[in-house]
Amino acid sequence: MKRIPSTFTPPIMLDSHSKTPIYRQLYDWFRSAITVGRMRPGQRLPSTRNMAAELQISRISVFNAYEQLHAEGYLEALPGSGTCVARTIPDDAFVSLAAQGRKGSQRIVAASGPRTVSARAGALLQVPPELWLHNLGAFRVSLPALDHFPVDVWSKLVARHSRSQSLRIMAYGDAMGYLPFREAIAEYLSTFRAVRCDSSQVLATTGSQQALQISAQVLLDPGDQVLTEEPGYPGARVAFTSAGAQLVPVSVDGEGMMVSEMIGRGPHARVVYVTPSHQYPLGMTMSAARRMSLLKWAEHTGSWIIEDDYDSEYRFGSRPIASLQGLDVHGRVIYIGTFSKVMFPALRLGYVVVPKDLLPAFCAARDAADIFSSTLYQAVLTDFKRC
Ligand SMILES: Cc1ncc(COP(=O)(O)O)c(C=O)c1O
Repeated sequence: MKRIPSTFTPPIMLDSHSKTPIYRQLYDWFRSAITVGRMRPGQRLPSTRNMAAELQISRISVFNAYEQLHAEGYLEALPGSGTCVARTIPDDAFVSLAAQGRKGSQRIVAASGPRTVSARAGALLQVPPELWLHNLGAFRVSLPALDHFPVDVWSKLVARHSRSQSLRIMAYGDAMGYLPFREAIAEYLSTFRAVRCDSSQVLATTGSQQALQISAQVLLDPGDQVLTEEPGYPGARVAFTSAGAQLVPVSVDGEGMMVSEMIGRGPHARVVYVTPSHQYPLGMTMSAARRMSLLKWAEHTGSWIIEDDYDSEYRFGSRPIASLQGLDVHGRVIYIGTFSKVMFPALRLGYVVVPKDLLPAFCAARDAADIFSSTLYQAVLTDFKRC
């Protein structure tokens, strides 16, 4: 048992003109005194009565400050005889906290040498960051014309749904997403993108980045090969790398990913990632012949195709190209879409169309990630699409 020195009244300065309540100033003083080692474990505190008299403040303020420090584990009650600094706090905690106060925590971290992160985090650090994220100027890729967005309509709908205070909007939601939103997506995809699906297969996500991340988690084990377009979308590389996958780049030409090269490079690959409607970043469309051979290969090898259909709503000269998923009769395609390009990226809403047998695994992975997307924005977007 540690020795308990006799009580004393510390030199506390309180500011009666401050906006910070007196009890809070007292609490701050003790907390700081304890964390920098000015008050040691086991050291007694004056009684609430003495402290109040000494500082000429109400006893309630002292009581409230002590209560808070008790609740946070800085103080402990001594049986029958007052209060002391908690003896359960190890002595060396005070030494290191005090040292931090003198030197600054960053310098202590630097002195202790590099700290290890997981191999997966290390691999992620090797992927070059997206430079375009920091540029909002003209001609930048990946950003829609935000100045043309109908902010008035959008904000009225946000206000209407926010005012409704519906429990459905405010409580926890379904990991698969808000049903009317999923129904609207399924209808849109079947009509405009020739995707074969019903609403039960639509999983709402926080953008297509999360859709890629979840797909990687569900389909890949560490060391599995993933075939990716080269050049290709760095966000996809990050998602597969974070699942511990081994990336195998495949060249693209005027017809999209070169499927014959792909088959040669990764005959046992578990996943192939493609942007067939509008290759990222070069913009070509995958030819019908390549689509057929890709689907045939996936069916033959039991591999999965991840189709990232991120912006095919935009076409200059023709109607949108039908999806690869719509040609797939064996359920080997995971179809991913996003509202980042047709709406705005900060909305963070996207979706995956999942083959029916994979639904439980995708739903579980979504739940583990961040449970569900904002129901408010799913509801607003459902109405927005009807305007
Ligand atoms: C090919 C591709 N996929 C996905 C995305 C990102 O989508 P999200 O904002 O929905 O995560 C982008 C963004 O530019 C992209 O270029």
